[in-house]
Amino acid sequence: MTEPKASNYQAYTGDESYFDAYNTYQRRHRANPRESDKVILGLIRESLEPAVSAPSILDIGCSTGNLLALLRRELPQAKLAGCDLSASSVEACRNDPDLAGIDVEVADALALTGPPRHHIAILNAVTCYFEEAEFARLLANVGALLYDGGRLIVFDWFHAFAQQQLCILEKSQGHPEGVAYHLRSIAAVKPLLHQAGFDDGDFRPFELPIDLPFPGTEGEVVSYTQRTDGGGRLCFRGVFFQPWCHLIARKTSEPDS
Ligand SMILES: C[S@@+](CC[C@H](N)C(=O)[O-])C[C@H]1O[C@@H](n2cnc3c(N)ncnc32)[C@H](O)[C@@H]1O
Repeated sequence: MTEPKASNYQAYTGDESYFDAYNTYQRRHRANPRESDKVILGLIRESLEPAVSAPSILDIGCSTGNLLALLRRELPQAKLAGCDLSASSVEACRNDPDLAGIDVEVADALALTGPPRHHIAILNAVTCYFEEAEFARLLANVGALLYDGGRLIVFDWFHAFAQQQLCILEKSQGHPEGVAYHLRSIAAVKPLLHQAGFDDGDFRPFELPIDLPFPGTEGEVVSYTQRTDGGGRLCFRGVFFQPWCHLIARKTSEPDS
């Protein structure tokens, strides 16, 4: 009997040789948090209810815990938790004194189940690995974990071209077998938010406020910026432009079953 083929996110998270290198790469952002993570911190601050003294915040796909470390420093009153499907990343979190006491577990975001127990759930650079049906399921699962009025915060590739849904298969040094990236239109995401029990969501395109150096064309592909004539910055990965965008959505009802 042949094994069922792993889906894109399963193949990606199961590639431990990739995660050895990725976990090391993540260390550089511990002392200097990513600009996009600082925006997530701001979005959390905006949405915290003054009446909730110890908000429960779950970082799904937390990797080695850089965002959790930032949140712990900046929001010491919060009750933080994380999960990731990469066992080595979770192991790194558990061995990290900066994250001591934070509950981090190996879990598949698509297998997370209720009851509602978080005020805020974060998907930071995670959803691009999910194909359409998985993405809809993911939003519904996360919706079920949130209290009424809770917030979902996503940072990912969402763009304004209503009719254009892109799936890019990248074969690169880190992903020689290929990994698929989904770039979704905001118009396509909104109905899925509704089905999952969220409002319309607030989509805020993200422009890096700093330059990222060009890494050259021969090695691993990593993000870099190019200046526009108007002084803005476009963020590329190899040959493609990344429409990075923060999304904050409020849970208003139970997900459609
Ligand atoms: C590009 S990394 C982003 C990591 C981190 N959130 C950040 O912003 O630095 C994507 C992360 O999502 C995790 N991931 C992918 N699919 C997942 C799933 N189904 N369940 C849990 N984690 C998943 C990966 O293991 C990886 O750590």
